[in-house]
Amino acid sequence: MDIKVVDDLLSQVNIVNVIERYIPLTKAGSNYKALCPFHDEKTPSFSVSEKLQIFKCFGCDAKGNAVSFVRDYEKISFWEAVRKVADMAGYILPESNYDKQKKSKFDLIYQAYKLAKDYFAKNLNEYGDQAQKYLDERGITKEIREKFGFGYAMNSYGGLSNYLLKHDIKPEILPETGLFGSNERGIYDLFRDRLMIPIHSSSGKVVAFGGRKLDESQPGGKYINSPTTVIYTKGRELFGLNVTKYDISKRDHVLVSEGYLDMLRLYEQGFINTVASLGTALTSEQISLLGRYTQNVYIMYDGDEAGIRAALKGAAEVTRHGFQCRIVALPLGEDPDSYLLNNGKEALQKLIDNAMTLQEYFKEEKILGLSTNKKVNFLIDVARDIAGDIDRSLFLKGVSETFEVSYPAIISRSKNKIIFQDYNVTLDYLNSNKYPEERLLLKLMMEDKELVEKIGEDIDASWFFEAEYREIFEVLIEHNGKLNQVSSYQMVVSPEVWARMSEIMLMKTPQVEIEKIVRDVKLRKYRQDLAAMDKIIQAKGQQSELFEKYEELKKKVRELDPRGAQKLLY
Ligand code: GTP
Ligand code: MN
Repeated sequence: MDIKVVDDLLSQVNIVNVIERYIPLTKAGSNYKALCPFHDEKTPSFSVSEKLQIFKCFGCDAKGNAVSFVRDYEKISFWEAVRKVADMAGYILPESNYDKQKKSKFDLIYQAYKLAKDYFAKNLNEYGDQAQKYLDERGITKEIREKFGFGYAMNSYGGLSNYLLKHDIKPEILPETGLFGSNERGIYDLFRDRLMIPIHSSSGKVVAFGGRKLDESQPGGKYINSPTTVIYTKGRELFGLNVTKYDISKRDHVLVSEGYLDMLRLYEQGFINTVASLGTALTSEQISLLGRYTQNVYIMYDGDEAGIRAALKGAAEVTRHGFQCRIVALPLGEDPDSYLLNNGKEALQKLIDNAMTLQEYFKEEKILGLSTNKKVNFLIDVARDIAGDIDRSLFLKGVSETFEVSYPAIISRSKNKIIFQDYNVTLDYLNSNKYPEERLLLKLMMEDKELVEKIGEDIDASWFFEAEYREIFEVLIEHNGKLNQVSSYQMVVSPEVWARMSEIMLMKTPQVEIEKIVRDVKLRKYRQDLAAMDKIIQAKGQQSELFEKYEELKKKVRELDPRGAQKLLY
């Protein structure tokens, strides 16, 4: 049984009928409302959209489709819930002894990934001159390349599939590996002309790849990452952990960065107790995974707005787990890789020694523009979820001292309802309330398949500033035409991304011109590129090649925005 079956099932059942079997629903506008079955409440904040076939609680953040409702309500497995919902709707599931089939499928896909890793590594040695040169330029040593299993995906549509078929991987397995795209003519290699960085599970099996561009002019995002498969869910693995887990355990603390290259640079410079969370704030699953080795987490995210938000979110999650958390503040515009290259390891060690607690860091934080009140309320709410009484009061004492609010006042505020709302507002803020046109574009794409195709030809993921939006964009492009129900996307993305997707789905559709939104998305990207080039030109003087590109970009900006162009050029 695969995801397509569930997609088809979801198109045959009505979520309203399913949920009504469990709790009473009342009609409110085009949606249905109820008291939320997943948390205690007196006024209904649980909402069901018949049109979108999803539910969402605005109080506790529960959200999902008909199947996941039954799973969460009955506390059963996803596949048990699929069977239940099928029974309710009289839907006949295809015959399969699913469990047996699934077991062997796991092994086959693991095997395909292992072969793919060997193949990419062989390519890097035999045909990867350009990739080797790129790695030389970035100062990635031969030792690191080997230890972390680097490879190269050739610029070919059939290299990997041929290799796998030659090594006895069955053709019917290929589409499920996530390593291939498909069109009318069949499947093709997804990763082409990219540096391949394998992601391993903590036990050391390859479960995914990150494929990096070798130069900016190549099509596609800076990284292409493996999609969700039966062996890989983004947000559950940590890059590097298979190599560094023993050192993390020995040193009894871990340094968590955002990117592959950050992790590798830290490792190479002797900060060997390190992992990367890969483009997301640390998830609850990742923190539990780390908990096998240490309960002291140092978050070392990029010094930019997205990095600050992700650091706060991640630190809150670490704190909820009852672990100790410190945030290492990098200067604006630096990531661990660039900081080490520019300032050396002694300087970084100093930053680590001066790392702040969540309370201290939040107090100092000015870029997000949150009021002291909101900050304190946010932290009080984080404390609610800390399981141990002692840990919880220690954390609240820290809030009291850092923000200079009396401890009894903090305790009485923690009993106040307002805080819960404030918390959601703040969380939303941390999740980013920026880049509204990116969100709008995604909303329109979710409603119109033809639009997805059209936009996919015009722009790619790298145009998006917000990492989660970028991922949603990629998922929409990838599954367009394969999944018919928006609610099915819950099965192919991480819980964090699904949370964002369902928020976007539930937005009202505004009356806007799609061209204008695409234009705004493009303009911002052009302007960012211009600013980056500007910096290089100022530092190195006008190299003719770069200057040509610069002029070209300026022209594009002028074409898109004749009136606004002036303000950025001077
Ligand atoms: P370098 O630019 O090579 O130094 O990369 P990095 O290792 O510093 O990674 P960065 O901090 O730029 O990005 C963090 C993570 O975000 C990466 O490891 C990726 O998982 C993810 N990411 C970055 N760019 C993209 C993209 O274009 N698409 C997708 N899907 N993910 C991306
Ligand atoms: Mn980097």
